[in-house]
Amino acid sequence: MSFGHALLQWYDQNARDLPWRFAPSPYRVWVSEIMLQQTRVETVLPYFERFISNFPDLSSLASSSQQDVLTIWEGLGYYSRARNLHRAARVILTEHNGEFPQTANELEFLPGIGTYTAAAIASIAFQEPVAAVDGNIKRVYARLLNLSLPFGSVLFEATIQDYAQSMLPPERPGDFNQALMDLGAIICRPRQPNCPACPVNQFCQAYQQGN
Ligand code: ADE
Repeated sequence: MSFGHALLQWYDQNARDLPWRFAPSPYRVWVSEIMLQQTRVETVLPYFERFISNFPDLSSLASSSQQDVLTIWEGLGYYSRARNLHRAARVILTEHNGEFPQTANELEFLPGIGTYTAAAIASIAFQEPVAAVDGNIKRVYARLLNLSLPFGSVLFEATIQDYAQSMLPPERPGDFNQALMDLGAIICRPRQPNCPACPVNQFCQAYQQGN
């Protein structure tokens, strides 16, 4: 079985039950990815529900005041995320006729959306085959390759990014990216990874080499 097939099969049985995966509209995916930029999943959950019930769609967000958005965001921190979310909603409404841009390249023009977030939204909401590589996914790939390059070095980043893109299956790219996120959270944890339970340990050079 291929790496992608093994990972997706595991994901189909073990995916975390997260609210933005249920009825995954571009709007819900976008809001969740902005919240998850600097905040852990467990912390985001109640804020996500609160945000979506107050601003259920793009036009309700765009037509509210910035202060209303900041009030709902209160407690989550990194408030520039809320201001950018609000600004981006107005840009999408006025400059894109209310339609989300569908590619990572276009999404990156919106306030608050960097390379990682653009790839996450494009792959999850629009099935664009782009690898979304955050810190957790870097750790997973560094272990799969048994890389000894220093984390964060230019060569490390380039190696991981190229490898991640080459591993991405053309079908279900969003699920594949989210499967890697869940693998990093549940199995391939920073400390004490649960290698015996890992669905892709036969592909993992660190595991195979007892490292
Ligand atoms: N972290 C960032 N995006 C995520 C997602 N879509 N699912 C789980 N964890 C995430």
